Amino acid sequence: MEQIQHEIEKTCLTLALETSCDETSASVVADGRIILSNVISSQVPVHQKYGGVVPEIASRKHIENVLPVVDQALREAGVTLADISAIGVTYGPGLVGALLVGVSVAKALSFATDIPLVGVNHLEGHIFANFLAHRDLEPPFMALVVSGGHTSLVHVKGYNEFELLGQTRDDAAGEAFDKVARVMKLPYPGGPYIDSLAAKGNPEAIAFPRALPGKNSFEFSFSGLKSAVLNYLNSAAQKQEEINTADVAASFQAAVVDVLVSKSLQAAATCGVKQIVVAGGVAANSGLKAKMAYECKKAGFSLHYPDPILCTDNAAMIACRAYYQHLIGDYADLHLNAKPSLKLGHG
Ligand code: KG4
Ligand code: ZN
Repeated sequence: MEQIQHEIEKTCLTLALETSCDETSASVVADGRIILSNVISSQVPVHQKYGGVVPEIASRKHIENVLPVVDQALREAGVTLADISAIGVTYGPGLVGALLVGVSVAKALSFATDIPLVGVNHLEGHIFANFLAHRDLEPPFMALVVSGGHTSLVHVKGYNEFELLGQTRDDAAGEAFDKVARVMKLPYPGGPYIDSLAAKGNPEAIAFPRALPGKNSFEFSFSGLKSAVLNYLNSAAQKQEEINTADVAASFQAAVVDVLVSKSLQAAATCGVKQIVVAGGVAANSGLKAKMAYECKKAGFSLHYPDPILCTDNAAMIACRAYYQHLIGDYADLHLNAKPSLKLGHG
């Protein structure tokens, strides 16, 4: 016991909270890289019957879950608040009511204990999940962030230096997966269902469009592709033609993946970096992983992505990001507020 206590005193522990969307999560991370606990209470079953996240319900569920989740994270890590060096919390981007729950609890804990408070950007958290999954990974690298709300290419120049090269003009990649899945009557969130259906289909069966293919444009657009898939399904239904859903899923996924992979490689080459990391819920997509691995190997880039549990929303990635902000004294005060449209950095 004394030995464990001694080890804890030597290490720097960050506690973090994540409540930006539909997962209530709390985590304790040691020295920014070692996960001691990562408790995730998912609301997916609650929202599934509505076909998407209902913001008001999400906020209420966060309120119910947040304190038990924090307690469990501390207990599983075998620590108390007295052992914590910094409290991190996601303050944006995300659903305002959902964010406010985490922000309020983190501020209250910080006020009551005098432990410094760190406001964390959710997108930066997704990128930092890679530092947890790959302990030797260091910047600089090119990060492709692909989630339900975002599709961005970020040049990570250092632990606290990011340049946004481009993002989606309309739908995020995960949003396109979810919308197409919905029309195909697959459960919410649809990404994983399209992924497994696609594995049984022919990706070349239907020529869906690849948007904004222009070299050196790092912007994305998925709404045209989504409409093309919906038109294909509607017109087949009108003509009472039989649809091969596996082929539709595979061809749609290939159109998304082609663009994500080619732009990531172009961006890495333009910025002169040798490493590419993928982050966010869509990073779990098997088609994306396979194509990215193949193209990176061919072009001589090293590739990293987190384990599936660290791809989707979780507080460990927030605790990791908070650690690196703590090292440079990047603290928030009790005026910290939820910022639903927060940009990279504190923008
Ligand atoms: O990062 P995340 O958990 O939440 C946001 O911050 O948005 O990402 C959730 C998104 C959903 O759109 C979900 O359908 C998608 O990630 N997703 C996938 C896969 N697993 C999750 N999309 C495609 N293939 C997957 N295997
Ligand atoms: Zn996310």
